[in-house]
Amino acid sequence: MKSINFVKTIALVSILSFTALTTMCGQTTNSKTNTMENLSLTEFPALPYAYDALEPYIDARTMEIHYDRHHRAYFNNFVAAIKGTVYENMPVGKTFAEISKAGDAIRNNGGGYYNHVLYWKIMGKGSSGPSTELSAAIDKAFGSFDKFKETFSTAAKTRFGSGWAWLVLTPEKTLAVGSTPNQDNPLMDVSPLKGTPILNIDVWEHAYYLKYQNKRPDYIEAFWNVINWDEVNRLYREAVK
Ligand SMILES: [Fe+2]
Repeated sequence: MKSINFVKTIALVSILSFTALTTMCGQTTNSKTNTMENLSLTEFPALPYAYDALEPYIDARTMEIHYDRHHRAYFNNFVAAIKGTVYENMPVGKTFAEISKAGDAIRNNGGGYYNHVLYWKIMGKGSSGPSTELSAAIDKAFGSFDKFKETFSTAAKTRFGSGWAWLVLTPEKTLAVGSTPNQDNPLMDVSPLKGTPILNIDVWEHAYYLKYQNKRPDYIEAFWNVINWDEVNRLYREAVK
């Protein structure tokens, strides 16, 4: 009888352990996928829509050159830069966390790869706006949506030279806006702005020059028409967990 109970106990422990393990693995995998820290290093990700999908706000020619030339080059150069190094099999998020040790090629091209993947995803057409939860967090951090829009747009307009503006959820779980130079991002240890990216905008001239020439503010204003709030809401939900 004792031995039967012992076998039952072992079986139960095994089932519970297996369930806990698979749950943990599932969470880890989902978390990496959702936060995009586990980006593919073998396959250049597809653009989630056609080149002309964001017309008239972002023109098809800009989108084609931006995605197929600039972004692809960052991906190819990043893969080449990490080849044969400790970063070759490291999740990109972990690489960013110690980017100060990785060198300029990995920093610039890794940032260029990740930042654009996020940028394509947070754009789209047809979604309504921030979720109730994100709206409440925006109101708490900035006072109102209009104030947030103004703060984000100002960060994008005033980033000197090339770079990005960001909405992030900080490690303290509050929303913050800021900008980074070149291809840096808030996941990098070198960035004064730290947090999980929720929204970003590319303010390199290659993102807007063909249509808007030197009028960066016009491009930034147009950007608000093509934010994929469904994705932004999902990124926020994922980050606050
Ligand atoms: Fe870009």
